[in-house]
Amino acid sequence: MTSLLNFVYTYISDIARSASLFNTLSTFHTSKSSSKLSHNFTNNNEIHTSAARTSTLLSTSTGFQLNPINITSYRLASTNSTWNESSLPDKIKSLDEYKALYDLSINDPERFWKMAAERLDWYRFPTKIKNTEFDYRTDRGVDIKWYEDGILNVCYNCLDRHIDHDSSASKQVAVVFEPDTPTETRHHVTYGELLRDVKKFANVLKKHGVKKGDRVTVYMPMVVDACVALLACARIGAIHSVVFGGFSASNVAERISDCDSTVVITSDFGLRGGKCSPLKSKIDQALKMKQCSNVRTVLVFERNYGNNADVKDACSDQRGTLEWKEGRDFWAHKEMETVNENCPPEKMNAEDPLFILYTSGSTGKPKGIVHTTGGYLTYTSLTFKYIFDYNPGDVYMCTADIGWITGHSYIIYGPLSNRATTVVFEGVPTYPDVSRFWNVVDKHQVNIFYTAPTAIRSLMAHDDKYVTKTSRQSLRILGSVGEPINSEAWKWYHSVVGDSRCPIIDTWWQTETGGVMITPIANAWELEPSSATLPFFGIKTQLFDKSTKKPLTPPNTGELCIQDSWPGQARSLYRNHERFVDVYFKQYPGYYFTGDGCEIKKNGYHCITGRVDDVLVISGHNIGTAEVEAALNEHAGVSESAVVGYPDKKKNQGMYCFVVLKDDTKESEELRKDLIKSVRNTIGAHVNPDVIHFTPDLPKTRSGKIMRRILRKIVEPDTSNLGDISTLTDPSIVKELIKKSPRTKHS
Ligand code: WTA
Repeated sequence: MTSLLNFVYTYISDIARSASLFNTLSTFHTSKSSSKLSHNFTNNNEIHTSAARTSTLLSTSTGFQLNPINITSYRLASTNSTWNESSLPDKIKSLDEYKALYDLSINDPERFWKMAAERLDWYRFPTKIKNTEFDYRTDRGVDIKWYEDGILNVCYNCLDRHIDHDSSASKQVAVVFEPDTPTETRHHVTYGELLRDVKKFANVLKKHGVKKGDRVTVYMPMVVDACVALLACARIGAIHSVVFGGFSASNVAERISDCDSTVVITSDFGLRGGKCSPLKSKIDQALKMKQCSNVRTVLVFERNYGNNADVKDACSDQRGTLEWKEGRDFWAHKEMETVNENCPPEKMNAEDPLFILYTSGSTGKPKGIVHTTGGYLTYTSLTFKYIFDYNPGDVYMCTADIGWITGHSYIIYGPLSNRATTVVFEGVPTYPDVSRFWNVVDKHQVNIFYTAPTAIRSLMAHDDKYVTKTSRQSLRILGSVGEPINSEAWKWYHSVVGDSRCPIIDTWWQTETGGVMITPIANAWELEPSSATLPFFGIKTQLFDKSTKKPLTPPNTGELCIQDSWPGQARSLYRNHERFVDVYFKQYPGYYFTGDGCEIKKNGYHCITGRVDDVLVISGHNIGTAEVEAALNEHAGVSESAVVGYPDKKKNQGMYCFVVLKDDTKESEELRKDLIKSVRNTIGAHVNPDVIHFTPDLPKTRSGKIMRRILRKIVEPDTSNLGDISTLTDPSIVKELIKKSPRTKHS
């Protein structure tokens, strides 16, 4: 550490030529020295020391004022600097340290990402670090490879190696399970126990013929067995494809068939908010569909395995009614009794796929995002460690579902590769009451808590006493992910939940990016509500003008692109590289296009303004409008539909559906309800249209294209400036729509 500090000091004097920066630098210099005292916390007392430091940091920023920082000058200055360190620092404690390392990561990515890879254990350490091409116009085309001759195993890195390096790790708690019902017995699973179960389940997969490279669909509730399932796949080199437990049978079927899974892992039931979710029976329905005829094995974890037989819960009545297909369906726990505990990890190439995760796109068919082994783990592991300032002994809790990327990267792979203790929470924030999150925090003495703005907004709608009656003293860091966090919610999270002492880590990233991309690093610099602040190491952002497609110089607002590759990024779409290139690399040749709008301020801070394509982000779920339209159009009474989003304070966006009925169908309240139901049934219960607007027609261009721009303006509502509508076949429809829309105020 000392040599890193020396380096930073040298570096500072190097750039002190820039007099205007000098005051800022001295400030950071001082705060860095004091923070030296408080690293490597291993017990609760020391954790509190860290919290006290945070409090000082934030109290100096009352009113969230920022020191103006000229980031460009730092970048230029560092080209003369030399990096004396042979490995990455344990922590990033100040803006100075960030900037030094950031410059290195941009100017010499090979060196930076080699050091990052050294944090993992490899069977063969890569000699090639980066080999990437973003420009589709080149002979090579878009092609992304990191650590391509490296060999490692993700499961080994998340479990075995901690024990191999230090045998006491086997007794350390890896996963704390917090069940839906607070009174139900919780489990603490140690690294030793988790490794034992993963090896056994990996052997069960092998017994059922699963081999390296095979795809396995996982449809599980938020239980420890879900972690076992994923890690077991990683151990034997099978590619997992997790489907969120809320998706309907037909959506699961679509995802099973797209990646050609022959084995499905599920659970008999799931419990959420006191309700029973019959997952196995949804799989039964899915497998009755023709496209799933290749599935030969279903491994079923029992939700109440090991509990007393007389435990009563919302699923009790349904337990005896499970359909069972002999020869296809097997109880996972019973199978685990038939195999041994010895299962050596498969040696995987760094570029072998680790998993596929489907995400909504602007067209109907979901995209099977492919993440690979070495780059993904290097990236999620490093981001987790730095941004959450994880210290040995900390208890970390992320409330995401395992079915989404946040669950993959920051419940399982990021935390476990850092030997962290991670909480798996089965329930919802409002059950049995709205204090639940904070009771769980107190119960498990959670230090780092990561959730979505939607949850925060739904909780802040209730009296603060539901928060303040809990202690939350263990909390040190609060994270946010999934949607823009509005400043009201940010402030409430900061002042009420965090007692104005915990920094808010607003992390911007995507399923496609694998890990966090723009984010504060806890305690390293000052925060600003609703700003994800600065790019992570190796991430160079670039704004473009939507209409001219020209690059913009900050401060400015535009479409957000990333200039060069980072190890955690998706490599392709499953069996559809062409669509991968079309969606992410064609809009701005040579750049990765995020699909998000962004404002970069004078101080370099980034504020994400939301999606610029046809994907809605509602309560943290990405929903492609095309998928909803397809679901509506399937209804016998519907001729066509157009779905757009509007701003919603609680859910980030609301879903507005314009529906044209067939001539023989009459609009009615019943039909409205029926359409909502059929969308929920087709896609999943997490997709709920807010407004169904029946209309005789839609605004269309002469070539028949629906003018969504106008529909968006109508529902926003912002009807004062509709732009040119003269190209519409029937401009009068616009007036009609405005008149009938419940979102426009008209006299
Ligand atoms: C949005 C979730 C603002 C954004 C990890 C992105 C955010 C999409 C933030 C990806 C944030 C995510 N601030 N917007 N901190 N985090 N988003 O693939 O529009 O489920 O493109 O990945 O969520 O959602 P996804």
